Amino acid sequence: MKHAILLVAYGVANHSGRSVLAVFCARVRDLFPTCSVRWAYTSSLGRKRLAQAGIKSDSVAKALLRMRYEGFHTVIVQPLQTIAGREHNDLLATVADICAQTPMQVVVGSPLLTDQEDIDRVATCLVASLPREREPYEDVIFMGHGSKHPEAVRYQELDWAVQLRDKHVHVGTMEGGVTLEVLVPRLSSRRIWLLPLFSTVGRHTLQDMAGDAPTSWRSRLEALGHLCQVVLQGTIEDTSLAQVWLDHLVRAKRMINEVVRI
Ligand code: CO
Repeated sequence: MKHAILLVAYGVANHSGRSVLAVFCARVRDLFPTCSVRWAYTSSLGRKRLAQAGIKSDSVAKALLRMRYEGFHTVIVQPLQTIAGREHNDLLATVADICAQTPMQVVVGSPLLTDQEDIDRVATCLVASLPREREPYEDVIFMGHGSKHPEAVRYQELDWAVQLRDKHVHVGTMEGGVTLEVLVPRLSSRRIWLLPLFSTVGRHTLQDMAGDAPTSWRSRLEALGHLCQVVLQGTIEDTSLAQVWLDHLVRAKRMINEVVRI
């Protein structure tokens, strides 16, 4: 039996983002030494940028078809997504489509924030991962993507969960839910720590969170008289947060073992 793991990322093309993913991939290879481990990217724009940087990349469909052609029997797909939103639904649809055409068994692992256990665990990790230089009274904001998708409620749940652990830590999103406008009245310190709630540091972090444009969260907070301390570190760079995705991968692997036995 030939087994493979397909790690799915959005498609970060910058060097630091790629090296962060390589570290995660090494951990997956250590955990599953008998599996072939590969990458696929969901963003066509991201893949275009990778191509411009001279790096070949596959979409999820292309990677799965290639695996079928190479004779893999089982594939565990593990997305490095934060919530099971639209990007995740598209992934599930692609997998269902490929499964309908092939005898290959494919199981999809869950994103970072899927159930209450994830929320509690991630909240604990976020609060524990704060920079040492942050004073206990200083506000910290994690900026996530957010959307109108029902699963975007996970960001709100995570905000409640971090607040229970440290009332100066907040989770907000660019789109819907707890936006920056909602967070501002809660802030009480002059200096604000600003961190991304994205697996890797990409354009949303560099531009929408930390960018120079007046619309970035940093600029908007500075316009209100705050000093912003930006931390450019993706969630997957934190070992204990990365472990949540790894555990989801292990769980998906167990599922496929059960399927294959039948
Ligand atoms: Co976006």
